Amino acid sequence: MPAANAPIASQVPLVPVRSIAVTGGKGGVGKTNLSVNLAASLALLGKRTLLLDADLGLANVDVLLGLSPQHTLADLVSGRCELDELILEGPAGMLVVPAASGRRHMAELQPAQHVGLVNVFNDLQRQLDILIVDTAAGITDSVLTFCQAAQDAVVVVCDEPASITDAYALIKVLARERGVDRVQVVANMVRNPAEGRALYDKLARVCERFLGDVSLNFLGAIPHCDWLRMAVQRQQAVATAYPASASARAIAEIARRAARWEPPVAPRGNIEFFVDRMIRQGAVA
Ligand SMILES: Nc1ncnc2c1ncn2[C@@H]1O[C@H](COP(=O)(O)OP(=O)(O)OP(=O)(O)O)[C@@H](O)[C@H]1O
Ligand SMILES: [Mg+2]
Repeated sequence: MPAANAPIASQVPLVPVRSIAVTGGKGGVGKTNLSVNLAASLALLGKRTLLLDADLGLANVDVLLGLSPQHTLADLVSGRCELDELILEGPAGMLVVPAASGRRHMAELQPAQHVGLVNVFNDLQRQLDILIVDTAAGITDSVLTFCQAAQDAVVVVCDEPASITDAYALIKVLARERGVDRVQVVANMVRNPAEGRALYDKLARVCERFLGDVSLNFLGAIPHCDWLRMAVQRQQAVATAYPASASARAIAEIARRAARWEPPVAPRGNIEFFVDRMIRQGAVA
């Protein structure tokens, strides 16, 4: 199996990639920490994993991992470099596409530019199994487009009323405006497993009542964990720095579930990450 970090010759058939967007509506619920550690945990399971920092204006995947990018998505957007040149290696061999922080124009891209960012992944000549996309807070066009373009949207919630209402608002807009009909839910910073389940039930009840056409699935709960905070301080992924900690074990369990999701077999006919690989695969089959 070729390493994920090696660019490969273009004649080698590229396998389809399962893409997973991590979102939540509300700020500070743990989207970036889940993205980073889910990507690291999937890499530890042997999945060739790429993590895209899609918090375009206030990127912090690189900060969480102690990486120093030479180039970011801002350079790609301005035509100064290619996607492949942005890629850095993170823990457990996972790959990272860093974004820029404090570049306001990146937070104000046009909808067509968000579509362009999704489509540029078609040019990537790397063997990958999974793409994780860390999205910004809110329900802006970038968040909606990246969630729509991924096969799965993972919505992170925590035990705050505003987190549940924001998650509901996001799911509603994704369903009504972007045709998303399935959402995975992760409860973060819970005090015990029952609290995680109760949070999910709360969100599922309101979605069932007002958004009958969206199906929700409880993907798991992550405890509030001081080891995770310690890893953040040390700019490391808790998944690799403290693998025996409660949060790392919970995220590893979520990764095991996500690793079993089948790669996509055919394009859905709308905007989608790595759609060219699916089209080529269909043509070969
Ligand atoms: N399971 C956890 N246990 C303890 N602290 C956590 C946990 N998850 C996240 N945190 C803390 O919560 C804060 C916010 O986390 P993070 O940056 O991942 O959130 P976010 O949703 O990506 O925020 P933003 O909306 O600003 O992008 C961080 O300080 C992080 O250390
Ligand atoms: Mg974040």
